Order: sequence, then C-alpha cells, then structure tokens
Amino acid sequence: MTADIVRLSSADADLVVRCRPYTEILYWGPKLRRFSPEDVVSLQRPVANGKLDVDLPLTFAMEYGRGQFGSPGIEGHRGGRNASPVFTTLKVEASDSSLIVISEDEQASLQLISELRLEPQTGVLQIRHTLKNLHHQAWELERLAVTLPVPERAVEVMAFHGRWLREFQPHRVKLEHGGFIQESRRGRSSHEYFPAFVVGEAGFSEQHGTVWGVHLGWSGNHRLRADVKTDGRRVVQAEALYLPGEISLGEGETCSTPWVYAAFSQNGLNGMSQAYHTYLRQSLIRFSGSQARPVHLNTWEGIYFDHDPAYIMQMASKAAEIGVERFIIDDGWFRGRNHDQAGLGDWYLDEEKYPQGLMPVIEHVHALGMSFGIWVEPEMINPDSDLFRAHPDWVLQLPGYQQPTGRYQYVLDLSHPEVFDYLLERLSWLLSEHPVEYVKWDMNRELVQPGHEGKLSADAQTHQFYRLLDELNWRFPHVEIESCASGGGRIDYGVLARTQRFWVSDNNDALERQAIQRGMSYFFPPEVMGQHIGHRRCHATQRQHSIGFRGLTALFGHMGIELDPIQSDDEELEGYRHYIKLHKALRPLLHSGTTWRLDMPDNTVQISGVVSQDQTCAVFLMAQLQMLNYSLAGNVRFPGLLPDTQYQVSLLDGPEIKTVREGGGAMRELPSWLRQPIVVSGDWLMQAGLALPVLMPESALLINIIKV
Ligand code: DGJ
Repeated sequence: MTADIVRLSSADADLVVRCRPYTEILYWGPKLRRFSPEDVVSLQRPVANGKLDVDLPLTFAMEYGRGQFGSPGIEGHRGGRNASPVFTTLKVEASDSSLIVISEDEQASLQLISELRLEPQTGVLQIRHTLKNLHHQAWELERLAVTLPVPERAVEVMAFHGRWLREFQPHRVKLEHGGFIQESRRGRSSHEYFPAFVVGEAGFSEQHGTVWGVHLGWSGNHRLRADVKTDGRRVVQAEALYLPGEISLGEGETCSTPWVYAAFSQNGLNGMSQAYHTYLRQSLIRFSGSQARPVHLNTWEGIYFDHDPAYIMQMASKAAEIGVERFIIDDGWFRGRNHDQAGLGDWYLDEEKYPQGLMPVIEHVHALGMSFGIWVEPEMINPDSDLFRAHPDWVLQLPGYQQPTGRYQYVLDLSHPEVFDYLLERLSWLLSEHPVEYVKWDMNRELVQPGHEGKLSADAQTHQFYRLLDELNWRFPHVEIESCASGGGRIDYGVLARTQRFWVSDNNDALERQAIQRGMSYFFPPEVMGQHIGHRRCHATQRQHSIGFRGLTALFGHMGIELDPIQSDDEELEGYRHYIKLHKALRPLLHSGTTWRLDMPDNTVQISGVVSQDQTCAVFLMAQLQMLNYSLAGNVRFPGLLPDTQYQVSLLDGPEIKTVREGGGAMRELPSWLRQPIVVSGDWLMQAGLALPVLMPESALLINIIKV
C-alpha cells in the first residue's frame, strides 16, 4: 500500500482514502476481494466543459476555497480574514482499520486532524475532525462538519421525524437536485429530528438494497445534510450546529466534531442495524451491573406527585410479587414538588412526605430482592424554588430578555462553575447517602436563548452535561443511568456512552409503541430500549389495549411496568406476571441475538424477531396493527436460520387467537402449526415460509422457532 492511498478493511465493508496531497474518500462499499492502490486510476474524473478548469475532489474538509460551491465542511474567520482555508496533508498514520491525517493551511494558520476507525467486524466507521488554531488571533468557528461521499446510486433518504409522545417516525425523501437538510436548535438530540439518517439505492427496504447509515453521536444542536451537487455527486454531512459566536478558538485551542458513526450494508436496513447493534454491544454499551437487564417498575403513571412512603412500600411489595427486579421512585420526592410548577433545583428530600427519610423505602425495596432507583432532573430550575430565589442568575439566559418557560421551568447554566458544583454536590449527596443503584435522568425543557456571560452557550451546555455525567460515573460506577427527556428527547450514541437505558417515549400505547420502537431499532439494540407495560387505558392516548398486546409489545426491550400494581385487577396482575416471566425466560436470547425486521407486503402486519447468534433458536413477533388489507395475511419467510437444520415451529404466546367457534371473529380454522407444533427445515422456512393466522387489529402473537 502506498502511503497516498489507504485502504481500511472490515469483514464486509471497505473504505479507500486518498491521503495526499489532500484527503478524499474514493470508495465506501462492499469488501473488495482484490485491490491495489493503482486501481484508483479508474476513478479519475473528466473535467467538464463550462465549469472550473480543474478537477474538484470531495475532500474531508469540502473546502469552498477549492471551488466547492456546495455546503463546505468548515466555515469561520479571523476578523473576516482567513475565511477560506484549503488544507494540504502533512502527516498520515494508517493501519488496516484506522487512519489519522494531519493537514494544514499555512496561510490561515489552521490545522485539521482527521481520525477514522473502521471497526473490523462490523464495518462501522467512526470518524471525527478536530480543528486547531495556530495563530495568536482567535479564529471564529462557525461550522465544522464530517462529510462522507456516497455513490450516485444513493437516491433516497430515510430520516426520522417525531414529537413528544411520537418519537422515531421514519419518512422518505427522494435525493435529487439539491438535497435534504435537517437542523435542531433545541439543545438536545430531540424528539423532532433524531440525529441520523439512511441513504440508499432506489426502493431500499428492511431486507433488500444497499444503504449507508449516518448517526451523529451528540446530544445537542445538530445539522444533517444529504446533498446532490450540481455535477451529480452526492455527499452526506453531519455536524454539531453552532449558534452565532459560540466557538472562538484562541491560539492552540481546538474544537472537535462529535463522533459520526456510519454503517454500510448490502442487505437492506437489517444489515445496517445489525452492524450498529453489534458495534454498540462491543464498543459502547457498558452495563454497571449484570448483563441481564432488571425488569423495572416506575411509579410515575401510578401515583404521579402523590408520594406516601407506606403506600409506595406496598407498591414495591406488589411489584416484587409479580417479578419486578428494580423499583424506581419517579418525580415528586424532593422539597416543594407537589406538582410540576415548583421545586426543580431544590434537591433535598421532602421531609413532610418522607419524615423518616428515604431509607425505609430503600431498605424495603432491597429486602424484597429488588434494586432501587430514583428520578432527577438536574439541569432544570422552577422559578418557584428556593434555588431560583437565591440564585436567579444561575439560569441559562441572555441578560435583558424574558425567556418563555417550558413546563414552568428554566434551564440552569452548567458552564457556571457554582451551578456545576452545586449539582455535583447534591447528586453526590443523593447517591452516597443512599444505596441507589439507578437514576432516571430527565430533561423536560428545550434551550431558548441559552446564554452564559452574555454569549450563546448551547454547545458548552451539552459538553458540561457530559462532564457532569462523566464525573458521576467516575464517582459512582455501580449506578446505572437512564436518559430521559420528556420521553425520547435525548437518545443518541453520545449520551449512550455514559448511560445504560433510554426512556423511549412517554407514550405507552402499545399500537403507537409498535411504530416508535421499530423506528428506534434501526440504530439501537433492544436491551437499551425501555419498553413498558402501561395502564390498560393508556394515559397518553386514552386508547385501551389487552394485556396480551401490551405485554408482547413490551417484551423484547429492557422491560418495565409503568403503573400502580395495587390498583390493578387480578386479570391484569396475572398478565404482568406472565409477561415478566416470559421476558425473563427469553431475555438472554433477546439481548444478545440478531434483530430482524421483515418486509411485509401488507403493511397492516408488522413482524420482527431475534435469532440467536448460533442460529439455533428464534422468536418472531407478529403484530396486527390494523384490519388486514386482504382476507389472508399470507406467508412469512424467516431470515437468519440455518438451511440444513430442522426447526420446530410453534406458538409461544398468543392469548387472543380464537376461532369463530371459540368466540373469535377472524378465523374459522387456524393454520395447522397453530393447532400443533410442526417440524420443517430452515431452508423451507426461509424460502417458502409459514402461513400466518388472521388476527384482529391491535393484537399480537409470538412465534417460537427452535432447532430439533
Ligand atoms: C417526563 C418523563 O418522561 C416522565 O416519564 C416522568 O418522569 C415525568 N417527566 C416526571 O416529571
């Protein structure tokens, strides 16, 4: 390999990069069986008439100064000067799976350090750039993006929109003439625009097509872009979005982009998700306790702010009886917190509600064999709080303006050293004075005019949030943390590197959850997705679902119960017990296996499943979302099995399957495998498949496939 052309290689994907005199990704696609650096001559482009007289490489920095008229990778200036840098490579360090390139613009006195790692097994590309100011005068950085060229056949984008109670909704955009851009200035990864997208060949689907996934591992403001240049070439771009004046680099100072995580797949969206899941399991996810994710009971929708320790202990006893393994006291335990309009910031126990302190409850929970968790929202402050009355200047704000509150609260300025120290001290009090094993960390307001010392400060706020988490993780390594922000408002790999679980949504409606969880599964494995059985009548939608549909919908993730078990009738309690038991039995498979989402021609049926790593067993969930489009649901062909192996196929759970004779309405006769288990070959199941039953809308069943 000549040092000018570097090939990074993994099991299924390769990256070929030109490193001198400038950097350019020449190839990102399937693993090459044969390659020599001289091969890149085939890609030497013509220079088109009527344009600039030189070839324009798609460099790492996508410099405007080279004549790139699209979205540059770097923007900024030094008092209006040095505003159009062009970088030349100085130094290259490469191995089979990593590359570091240092390049400089002497005129502008700027250095760019680019780091790339192609993870050998999964082919997930981790990439970031760092800009360094080499001049005594500050350089005002406005944009620093990671740009990745993708082939011309990437003609569709799949991105995610959403809102509170409706996260991770995918949508498709055709990529032609111009491009696709998505920005968030909310100060968190956001419900509205999860910082990721997928580009791919026309019509890519769960099981088919070539796709390139891109995720920005960052919990703050962000910008993602997929561009078609006027010459037809395509790039994807991901960056932290900086507000005016936020980043000023003094001499020797640096600014790094967040890590971008990119994945290539020739096997549709499943191949991409499987690469990300494996990568996260190996490289990012760190559980403090055991790998087996404990089943939660969280008090929020059970009692809201109405905390009575005696009653909470009864709830804990009931929870333990049905198999819960971790009990969490949600919002309402601290001073002044009787409703959502007061108390945030006053992280002292409410001694009126808890006259004996928290210890009796915690000891009770521990005595029942469960671990204990507690809710906090450290970044926030209510105007009606002792903290605000003492320190109104601790708010993240710009002087002279009145901010709108959100949920009656403001945000604290974490860049203010006293604020940071106060929160660290209060959280350390909570975690050192009490044997707490888990913290649900909430964040219920977006940043509006975020100001520190008169300047906008959203980027620094996110860095300080990470610093606070890092410090707490260091002090209390046994404590697991869940990232919650009004449900799924802060879900990304940046925060996942510091936490163990996500509160996927405040919406526990099983029908809505089928869509939300599927959307999240593109980038996250099930064990970090909080999936909850909520009340029969969902608090968010008022819709009612059977315990079967709720239980099966919550089964695959990090399972939880979000209700008051004391108020539940016997049938409901029996249901919780049943699904917790089933979840525990399947948990080792679900949280280590390969996730598959299936393409179904009739989109009223949604099927996904997990196949064990050794391909000897699998479970697939069939969810009937609406009335079938046709009178039959057709056959399902299962992926990921061993063709030469005989499997038994049977119903593992399906409480609502009834023939007309038995009081059902959808089937006179069941498919034969539902009457008794069948044994067929893996090849047959993968090629011919299994006849699906006809289910009523908003119901589900679980299919068990096991090697005989
Ligand atoms: C919003 C969260 O998403 C809920 O689960 C709950 O913790 C409330 N905040 C508490 O105020």
